[in-house]
Amino acid sequence: AVATASGSTAAEDLPVTQRIVGLLSGRGSNFQSLLNASAAGLLGGNIDLVISNRTGAGGLNIAHDAGIETALIDHQNYPTREAFDRDLAGVLDSRSPDLVVLAGFMRILTADFVERFAGRLLNIHPSLLPLYAGLNTHQRALDNGDTHAGATVHYVTGELDGGPPVLQARVPIEPGDDAHTLAARVLAVEHQIYPVAVKWHMTGRLTLIDGTLRKDGVALPATGHLWEEPL
Ligand code: GRF
Repeated sequence: AVATASGSTAAEDLPVTQRIVGLLSGRGSNFQSLLNASAAGLLGGNIDLVISNRTGAGGLNIAHDAGIETALIDHQNYPTREAFDRDLAGVLDSRSPDLVVLAGFMRILTADFVERFAGRLLNIHPSLLPLYAGLNTHQRALDNGDTHAGATVHYVTGELDGGPPVLQARVPIEPGDDAHTLAARVLAVEHQIYPVAVKWHMTGRLTLIDGTLRKDGVALPATGHLWEEPL
């Protein structure tokens, strides 16, 4: 904000609080990590609203306990995917979010929805994209004898888990791992990388123009920025 000659601050110069809306379906541990970062002033915006498509999602309780507004839009009440997405988009539009974060939101979104929020829609996926889009990522990595697994934050496009990666973290696959032990190791890095990627978006460090994702003006590789590299 810029002080005026009289010493007061011109209203139009006050920084505008950036709005984030979260979408989730389940326990909400990634949402919790975003909330922690927000409380510490590390997210570059406020989470205004959390929407779940499932009753009883743990993430709704987390939001409620933190005093964040919640909404339930139960997909089971809609005859079609299109009808659900239209209502969801309407609620989102009423908040003009600068970012919509998918935090364990287990619904495929329609092309119209994705188009409407293009460049403002981030997701976290538990694999080293472009490997293992879709479900059961950890078991598939184990079955293939991979030496590493990981997580990727990416912008959402019409292709399932196919939008440009922003930030990716790797973890080793240890002897004796099963899908549960591996998921836990991956989840720990998910909680680290998601708030960082969100902050990059909120502070304008990411641009997605004509399908090319840049951070600080430099095109990112197909795997996104690697967590192991300096941020
Ligand atoms: C995470 O593994 C995330 O990568 C995937 O769904 C899971 C959500 O877990 N998209 P939580 O609800 O954030 O704990």
